[in-house]
Order: sequence, then C-alpha cells, then structure tokens
Amino acid sequence: MSILENWGSVPEGWKHYHLLDIESLRAEEITLLLDQAERFRAVLAQGDRKIPLLTGKTCVNMFFENSTRTRTSFSLAARRLGADVVDFTAAGSSLSKGETIIDTAKNLESMGIDCVVVRHSCPGTPKLLSENLKCSVLNAGDGAHEHPTQALLDILTIRQRLGRIEGLTVAMVGDIAHSRTARSNIWGLKALGAHVIVCGPSTLVSKEWEKIGVETSYSLDSILDRVDVFNLLRIQFERQVVRPFPSVREYAHLYGMNGDRLAKTKKDVLILAPGPINRGLEVTPDVADGPQSAILDQVTNGVAVRMATLWCCLTSSRS
Ligand code: NCD
Repeated sequence: MSILENWGSVPEGWKHYHLLDIESLRAEEITLLLDQAERFRAVLAQGDRKIPLLTGKTCVNMFFENSTRTRTSFSLAARRLGADVVDFTAAGSSLSKGETIIDTAKNLESMGIDCVVVRHSCPGTPKLLSENLKCSVLNAGDGAHEHPTQALLDILTIRQRLGRIEGLTVAMVGDIAHSRTARSNIWGLKALGAHVIVCGPSTLVSKEWEKIGVETSYSLDSILDRVDVFNLLRIQFERQVVRPFPSVREYAHLYGMNGDRLAKTKKDVLILAPGPINRGLEVTPDVADGPQSAILDQVTNGVAVRMATLWCCLTSSRS
C-alpha cells in the first residue's frame, strides 16, 4: 500500500487557512502540527523523499530578507509534498518601479497560486497579505514580530530529545528585543506548559515579559544549573538602531555559551540555536558541534514542520 493511501486527512482540530503567528494558536493546535511534523519526519528518515499530498498546488516564496534555512526548507517541503514552487525575488522585480507589495502579490496570485510564504522586515506584512489575497499566507518571519515555523521546529526538537515540553525550563538567551524567534517560542512554550526565561543584557531584555509569566534574567551564569534547554539567539545587528552593549567581546564574555559554562549545566541539557550562528559570539564551536547540541537536528525538523504546516493550511478552507 502506498504512503498516500495510509496517510489520511488533516485532523479535525486544524481549521486555519493561514499561519501568521503562534500567539493565536491553542495548545492543541500546536501539538497537532508537531504530531503531523513527526509523521513527516519519520517517513523522510526512511529515505522516502516524496509524500505527494499537495500535487497540483503552487506555492510562491516571497522573501524580502535574507534566508538560508527557512527559504530552502519551505521550498523542499513544498516539493516533497508534490507542489510546484516559485521563488520570487524582490531584487529585479517591479517593486523597484514603485509597485506596492499588495499589488505585486495580487499579480502573482492572478497567475494561479495556492500559497504565499512571506518573509519581510516589516511586522504585520503576512497579516496584510492574508487580508488582501485569496490564497493561504504563511509567515516565514516578519520583522521582530513572529517566526512561527521556527518556534514549531525548535519545540519539536525539544520534544523529540527530552520527551516532553510541560515542566521544562527553557532559556532564550541574547537579543530578545529584536528576535521573532524568541517571541514565537515564548508563546508556544508557554502554551505547552514550559517555564521560559529570557536572558541577556538589560538593553535587550524587557521586564514587560514578566507580565505574562516569563522570568527575566540579566545573568547567564546565575541560571546555568536549572535550565533544561538553552536557545542561543543571534544578535540581530540589522534591526538595532543603537548598539545595545559596549562591545561584542564583552557580550561573548557575559552571554556566550562556552565549554566552561556548559560544564555547569544539567547533564542532559539541550543546546539549540535558530541559525545562522556566529561562532565565538553567542556560542563557541566546541558547544555548537558538541554532543548536547541539536542545532542541525533543528534544521532537519524544519523540513518536516513546514511540510506539516503547508499540508494543514492548504487543505483547510478559507473561513
Ligand atoms: C532567524 C530569523 O531569520 O529570524 N533565523 C532563521 O530563520 N533560521 C534568526 C536569525 O536570523 O538570527
């Protein structure tokens, strides 16, 4: 019997046509996506590269910011589901002639597409497109707002490695202020019952997070021994208006994860990073490439998570 005959349809609990954020998802919806991603990951791990559930559908990637992992894995995910993929590049398009992003997207939609995957430096761009297009819109990162599929793949990696989310303590370390990855992780992890700590320099960690039950810390050394997962964020220099600390050397000294710090953590601690990593800044090579690191596993999970998201959204009807 083929994989498709066995696969079944999208579970009843999923009703969303777009994926714009994690904040508005219920715990059961997050778990549903993780469960479906796990199924895709298991089949891919057996060497099956095609699960053609979306044959005949067309996805357009619209990336207005640089991307390696997210863009490639969205493309691979769509192709592995049997969909056609078009990569729209802003450079060389008519945006430079004054066309708005809505007009550009509507023109692409007129060619017959089912989904837009969008990354943009302006928060809210995916929502804006979802209000103006008929097709599904998936958020691949909007400014410092949200990066839902990144959080899903991070949380899936934690669940696979540590067997659960509820009751774990997860520290997001670094540039919380400018990180969409941090924001989406916070919503997802909180919904699933984890304790979240945001840790970094006071200029990058707002006390406001405490209002929704997130712990804040300005000292990485003081939390080392009680954290199950460290998610090490890149300093988002491209979003900073003023430099939030005196020097990158000082940042690495105070907040970089290195061998000495790792030795003071729990025995089975998990090290994550959304990538790209800056070796020697937020994490040293021995830690990034060491046994506690699941950084490349996250990337593998990225394809499965995006397959689950594409399949669930593209098979839902617009409400
Ligand atoms: C993240 C992003 O673009 O927000 N990267 C990613 O999607 N893998 C984090 C980052 O750029 O540091």
